[in-house]
Amino acid sequence: MSAAGTGDLAGGRESPVAVITGAAGAIGSTYARALSGAGYRLVLADLKEAGKLAAEVAESGPAAIAVATDVSDADSARAMAEAAVGEFGRIDLLVNNAAYFSQILKKPVEQITVAEWDLAFAVNVRGAWLCACAVLPAMRAQGGGKIVNTSSMTIHGGGIEGFAHYASTKAAIVGLTRCLAREFGQYNICVNTISPDYTAHDGPLFDQQPEMEQRLAALRAIKRPGRPEDLVGTLLFLASAGADFVTGQDFWVNGGRIFS
Ligand SMILES: NC(=O)c1ccc[n+]([C@@H]2O[C@H](COP(=O)([O-])OP(=O)(O)OC[C@H]3O[C@@H](n4cnc5c(N)ncnc54)[C@H](O)[C@@H]3O)[C@@H](O)[C@H]2O)c1
Repeated sequence: MSAAGTGDLAGGRESPVAVITGAAGAIGSTYARALSGAGYRLVLADLKEAGKLAAEVAESGPAAIAVATDVSDADSARAMAEAAVGEFGRIDLLVNNAAYFSQILKKPVEQITVAEWDLAFAVNVRGAWLCACAVLPAMRAQGGGKIVNTSSMTIHGGGIEGFAHYASTKAAIVGLTRCLAREFGQYNICVNTISPDYTAHDGPLFDQQPEMEQRLAALRAIKRPGRPEDLVGTLLFLASAGADFVTGQDFWVNGGRIFS
């Protein structure tokens, strides 16, 4: 597996470099293990400690570093990209996965506070934009790269109650992806979105709605809960040279619950 602009990994060339934001989370850590297994050197960027995960993946795969990052802060996002380039010399793939998400407690739209609304947009939308801008100089200089943003199935199929701020951010991500794809295409940078379906794990949101996992599973063509591992194939495809002509698109990974 190789990323755009990096050429083939065969022949002993340097392995590509992936930055994963929100890498300490359920999906981010699954992405980290999968990308390491596919030969990527990793930069694990999270507000939470990701050093143990970096040590774990580096033990059996290419090098990995953890960089404490607040994606919603421009200086922090820039410093993270500079740390990546300082350590590894390039950035082939940015996975914009960090989000204000599993800490959310659903509530009626009129009860969402301004602070909650702003936090959702600061992390989920501003963060993706800032990180894309932060990796741009490296990707442009090396002749290409891949950015994979994260939206959600919450914005499809009639909307969802209690989640207006979060769902609005995930709709914005689809728009941001298209704008980045349009502007970055001239640099051979492909920008796409993965939209996962409900993937339960630890967190207040999942505790609040224990019935949700089975309810959604019953609606799918593939009648089972979604797992973080279900997203990996789409990520590896979008990161690969085989997806060099795929940009601005939104990939729904939902077990056939809703068809696009
Ligand atoms: N799990 C699901 O059901 C589901 C469904 C659709 C989309 N998603 C999306 O997938 C992505 C990963 O979700 P997850 O289920 O692994 O959630 P998670 O809560 O386990 O992981 C999110 C990670 O982002 C980090 N983070 C939060 N704010 C940050 C900030 N300001 N700077 C840097 N890191 C920050 C958190 O520390 C956490 O490690 C998110 O974008 C989420 O919106 C998840």
